[in-house]
Amino acid sequence: MKTIIANWKMQLTLKESLELARQSVKKIKAGKNKVVLCPDFSALPFVGPVLNKTGLELGAQDSAAASRGAYTGEVSPMNIKALGAKYVILGHSERREHLHESSAIVNDKIKSALDNGLVPVLCVGEKSAVKKSGETEEYLDQEIRHSLKGVKIKKASDLIIAYEPIWAISTNKNAKPMSASEAEKIHKFIKAKAAKILKKPVAVLYGGSVNSVNAGEYLNQDNIDGLLVGGASLKIKDFSHICSL
Ligand code: PGA
Repeated sequence: MKTIIANWKMQLTLKESLELARQSVKKIKAGKNKVVLCPDFSALPFVGPVLNKTGLELGAQDSAAASRGAYTGEVSPMNIKALGAKYVILGHSERREHLHESSAIVNDKIKSALDNGLVPVLCVGEKSAVKKSGETEEYLDQEIRHSLKGVKIKKASDLIIAYEPIWAISTNKNAKPMSASEAEKIHKFIKAKAAKILKKPVAVLYGGSVNSVNAGEYLNQDNIDGLLVGGASLKIKDFSHICSL
């Protein structure tokens, strides 16, 4: 069983989120893979009850570094958990880029999410300039070490890493997916790094232009434990197919 996470980003109205959640419950067969839907914050209280007891899980796209306090505009992992979410995506490249989230901030968010019983999905990945310079492994090594500094988990399933090469994310200019064989090699590298830091073999998902045609190639790789899907998760036909593989 692999883990497939839908990242709906900020692409949907409340009504569309609710409709997509209902369609997902109807069309996705729970049990083949673990499936997690991550709507935006405002939709969590509406999507949560739709997924309840269906086998599909709820996740958020971010959470605060503190559980409560004077942090105007932030959303507490404690309340995300109370809404029924089990997972939270942290350190997505769009947040690192547009909201200047550093690995130090992501590190605090991971600890706070864990304290509140959420499973952090830590996103890492290099820009095209890093890839071109041949320094992908050095870059990932730093990003992983800083993001996971001092993080302690009790079991392997307490934390997930999502490897998303930034140049492969479908909404970025000239995006193209990384080949499954290249991704497999990097996953092996990330798994070894993470296991050293966390002392547990955590799952590593691939993300970046995954679609209904190429998803199977990634899922066939031993070191790719699942997928983080953006654009294709908004199309129920494509996403339900990906979840059935
Ligand atoms: P994409 O997005 O599948 O549209 O490339 C993935 C992501 O950004 O999480």
